[in-house]
Amino acid sequence: MQNPYLPYKATIKSVKQETPDVKTFQLEPCNFEYMPGQFLELSILGIGEAPISITSSATRKILEISVKLMGQVTGALHELEAGDSVWIRGAYGNGFPLERFEGKEIVFVGGGIGLAPLRSLINYLIDKKNFKKIYILYGARTPDDLVFKDEFDVWNKIKNVELHVTVDKGTDDWKGNVGVVGALLKKINIAPDAVSVVCGPPIMIHFVVKDLKSLNFSDDRIISTMERMMKCGIGKCGHCNIGEKYVCIDGPVFTLGDMKGNREFKI
Ligand SMILES: Cc1cc2nc3c(=O)[nH]c(=O)nc-3n(C[C@H](O)[C@H](O)[C@H](O)COP(=O)(O)OP(=O)(O)OC[C@H]3O[C@@H](n4cnc5c(N)ncnc54)[C@H](O)[C@@H]3O)c2cc1C
Ligand code: FES
Repeated sequence: MQNPYLPYKATIKSVKQETPDVKTFQLEPCNFEYMPGQFLELSILGIGEAPISITSSATRKILEISVKLMGQVTGALHELEAGDSVWIRGAYGNGFPLERFEGKEIVFVGGGIGLAPLRSLINYLIDKKNFKKIYILYGARTPDDLVFKDEFDVWNKIKNVELHVTVDKGTDDWKGNVGVVGALLKKINIAPDAVSVVCGPPIMIHFVVKDLKSLNFSDDRIISTMERMMKCGIGKCGHCNIGEKYVCIDGPVFTLGDMKGNREFKI
């Protein structure tokens, strides 16, 4: 039987600086299948291991992660260049419930690096062409903190995809929206059966969920991701539990209905 903790070696094919503290790494080979919303355990030998969402879509036959410089592992990763090696195992987690998006309007609301797992699903749905309309509402602290800026034009040119971007604090040359990301909901006309997928810092999720509830989104039409400290990533160590659920195997994707009643997720 194969040891599930054994990672395999991947080579960094390219590194892209997205913001002052976020880089996107393309890795190869990708020896496993993955779905939008799943994550990897990424390790740097002698340093440690960290869970990181997959930001690419498997429909494009590449493997990409976007990583914010936070501590030991992410700090060591940020020092690496194309040609260097990392170790990965996965893909883990439940992923997004794809059947829920078929033929629907989908309202993506992302904050900061929270756009990373959403990008995997956005590009997957765009490639599968099985949606009615995609709204992407994205906010970051400043224009410099916006990730995937190169992709904004690509998304804007796709039929039935509408992108709105905002920042908390503009700069002299920023011509776009200023304000919290939830305010962008006022700019769009949402179908009554639309599904929303929200990902970002917990405080942002809290307020966006309130906004969505005021627009009559039912609990099962609000989907989000949760982050917890993880070790094994495969439901064995108990580090990531929230009540009876393990974020690594029952999540990281949950509906608002799943999250309600959890004292760590107060709406
Ligand atoms: C399912 C999942 C997917 C993730 N996807 C991404 C991703 O795509 N890109 C990305 O940059 N990061 C992602 N993260 C967060 C990343 O795993 C943590 O920031 C990780 O701790 C970084 O490791 P480190 O060794 O660099 O930092 P550490 O040295 O471990 O810690 C840095 C600081 O962050 C705190 N911290 C650690 N983990 C968490 C957490 N889960 N929530 C809140 N605070 C924490 C620590 O207490 C410490 O203060 C994800 C986490 C989870 C659980
Ligand atoms: S990380 Fe070990 S049980 Fe979830």
